[in-house]
Amino acid sequence: METSVATRKPNRCEADLLAVLVSEFKSEGVSGARVAKLPKPLVLADFGDAAFADIVRVITRGDFSGKKGESALLHPGPDFAAKRLLLIGMGDAGALDASGLRAAAGKAVRSTQDHKGKRVAILPPPVRRLRAEAVAQALAEGAVLGNYRFDRHQSKSGKALRETQLLFAGANDLRAARKGAATGVILAESQNLARDLSNEAPNLLPPVKLAEAAKRVARETGLQLRVLQPAELEKRGMGAMLAVAQGSANPARLIVLEHNAPRAGKTGGSRSRKSKSGARKTVCLIGKGVCFDSGGLSLKPAGSMVKMKHDMSGGAAVIGALRAIALLKLPQHVVGIVGAVENMPSGTAYRVDDVLKSASGKSIEVTNTDAEGRLVLADCLHYAQTEYQPAAIVDFATLTGACIIALGRWAAAAIGNNERLRTRMVRAGEATGERYWPLPLWDEHLEHMKSRIADIRQTGGRDAGTITAAAFLAHFVAEDQPWLHLDIAGMADTEQGTSTQPTGATGFGVRSVVALIREGGLKGL
Ligand code: BES
Ligand code: MN
Ligand code: ZN
Repeated sequence: METSVATRKPNRCEADLLAVLVSEFKSEGVSGARVAKLPKPLVLADFGDAAFADIVRVITRGDFSGKKGESALLHPGPDFAAKRLLLIGMGDAGALDASGLRAAAGKAVRSTQDHKGKRVAILPPPVRRLRAEAVAQALAEGAVLGNYRFDRHQSKSGKALRETQLLFAGANDLRAARKGAATGVILAESQNLARDLSNEAPNLLPPVKLAEAAKRVARETGLQLRVLQPAELEKRGMGAMLAVAQGSANPARLIVLEHNAPRAGKTGGSRSRKSKSGARKTVCLIGKGVCFDSGGLSLKPAGSMVKMKHDMSGGAAVIGALRAIALLKLPQHVVGIVGAVENMPSGTAYRVDDVLKSASGKSIEVTNTDAEGRLVLADCLHYAQTEYQPAAIVDFATLTGACIIALGRWAAAAIGNNERLRTRMVRAGEATGERYWPLPLWDEHLEHMKSRIADIRQTGGRDAGTITAAAFLAHFVAEDQPWLHLDIAGMADTEQGTSTQPTGATGFGVRSVVALIREGGLKGL
């Protein structure tokens, strides 16, 4: 979809639907004769006499007062260029924020789709708390996210829109809005890429295909790509990740996407988190890329296996985030690492009671082959630390069903060893509408994962399953290595559609982690 910023007057705006976003106003006393009581933005905007009369009528008859959730569809006469005019209520003007704008833009797009239209125009209300750039970014995000459909396997497809116009006035606003809209489009399209990867059927997206998808992203953006094959993983001693993969006919891949890779020949210092101030800092984003999770020999019951194609959503979010980071040309050095495997039961599958040797050298006692994600992440965490000495590591994983029990589908869990990093991620999530909530990680949790057979045991029992999974991971992170684990099990897919989120994969994590990095979330950890 094309997204543009225009100064066109509302009545001259050619589109299948023009959405006018209106904050709540007091409608008492409004009548055709007392137009002055109408909200100022509606009076000032040039709708033309006939369309304006239509708007006044809807309001005086009590059908619209800008309340949140309210909308009214009008069909102004022939001198109005757009085919439809949709009034969308935004609620209390003082409380209006980016998420309200995103939702309204999504609504405008959805409504246009429902009327088989291809072009929408959106006229935002005045927003006290946000500048034109932020308003345009939120609207562009909402429009692109709302336009998303995963219909590639349906013979009847093609409802998506072709064009969104955002209406702004004044040269300064116009320039700022163009910048914001461009940012919003990049972020939302990157989130949609993550949705596409997660939504794709697992027979069509095994680890090898996920790596090919990353290659397409690298070609599009200029990101550097490295794909490690099983022989290389073997050589590096990645026995934890390889154990998960060994039950499947589809071989593993370790996918590494790098933004602002230091040029070859340049020496050491700038890559190290221990380097003197002024050196460029590296952040590693790690994603769980289990392309299908059957549970392995500890097989999932039929009902629990449904939707396990989404078990690579952490990896998808990392690939989406790297795409956005590259296209936004962020100054930081960012590395995305995705451990891509399939967890299947077979004669070659890893067993319960097996003892594995991880890349770090620590041995692991297998207690449940369905706890495969932490094994994949363990080797990825080691790879990140030894290859890049990052200033921070953030991992995304649909790691535990227990996380859905703890936080439902309202938030992802944030667990780590660095309170600053965790707090900044929670804040970035609030700003982008992707909610994270902290859970503790104490020495007792780490202690709990000790094994009688090996160095560490894979699982910690029913109690605090999300925390014990994180405690397992912590055994593969150096104590002085800032690290944050995000369990997105409850957020990666949804049954509850909204105007910006159809059912299925959400692409959760992309916008918030880019915001974290963009807003200097790595400084002084
Ligand atoms: N991929 C699942 C976690 C999951 C469950 C994600 C439901 C999304 C929805 C993970 O690999 C898993 O199976 N975890 C086990 C861990 C247990 C065996 C300790 C779980 O949560 O049951
Ligand atoms: Mn599992
Ligand atoms: Zn899993």
